[in-house]
Amino acid sequence: MERFLQTKHLIQIDDLSRNDIEEIFALAEYYLQKNKNKVEQKHHLQSFTQINVFFENSTRTLASFELAGKKLGGIVQDIRIATSSIQKGETLIDTALTLNAMRPNLLVVRHSSSGAVNLLSEKVNCSVLNAGDGSHEHPTQALLDFLTIKYRKKKKEGLIIAICGDISHSRVARSNIALLCKFNNQVRLIGPSNLLPNSFKDMGLEIYNRMEDGVRNADVIMMLRFIPSRREYFNRFGLDNQKLLLAKTDAIVMHPGPMNRGVEIDGIIADDLNRSVIQEQVEIGVALRMAVLHLLVDRKN
Ligand code: CP
Repeated sequence: MERFLQTKHLIQIDDLSRNDIEEIFALAEYYLQKNKNKVEQKHHLQSFTQINVFFENSTRTLASFELAGKKLGGIVQDIRIATSSIQKGETLIDTALTLNAMRPNLLVVRHSSSGAVNLLSEKVNCSVLNAGDGSHEHPTQALLDFLTIKYRKKKKEGLIIAICGDISHSRVARSNIALLCKFNNQVRLIGPSNLLPNSFKDMGLEIYNRMEDGVRNADVIMMLRFIPSRREYFNRFGLDNQKLLLAKTDAIVMHPGPMNRGVEIDGIIADDLNRSVIQEQVEIGVALRMAVLHLLVDRKN
């Protein structure tokens, strides 16, 4: 059966239907097994060109997209912003038009401003993938998180998932909330009131200001970054063993990275392979991004 996505761009989770997400997951699981078995990929995709344009720092997302594109047989080019003409004052739109003229199949873009990736997608002919824009969305992070949950919990509906940290500034939280709610999970948000936007209360999500209440009986605890000046929150909102004991005995612990040990999460929990799936998230991320790139390249524009 031919697989395809309805959407040309992936800017936010709501660009994807449930069916699209099922297609992405089926293909990602296929690539995950191939990657685990170190099977050489046979490239059936027509030669494609992918340009990664990261206006903001990244380790995981950039390396993961670069590896995913290369494993699929693509020509992958990274634009290094520090040495690009952005530094000479070139605008985002002029940069977009310049890259578009090189006729890539895909642009993978990270930007510090919410909405910048969407704006760029309106100026180019190729598909655009959002690799994180400001505090708006980071859709492939949420997809890889959700696939990790499915992989570990053997289901993707009816789970209690506690997301803890600076929800206000987190694009990871926004994408995860949109995705997890699409599949009828019980999403709990945990954090200090000033870092929990009212819009989420209005959506009917469960809000907790005490971590001990929010993690109780949870299947999944997803920790987010705190900005470093908020070290004082570790006692209240950092994940330590005492708080983890309140969750289900088989609860998994997630973090999108980069993590601050001793700020959001105790280092012993982060390294406990029985509970922490942080490295698994990274591994699954490559396969997930291979699937998304594949389906966008295969799409008949
Ligand atoms: N999770 C994530 O987006 O990490 P990077 O900032 O390293 O890409």
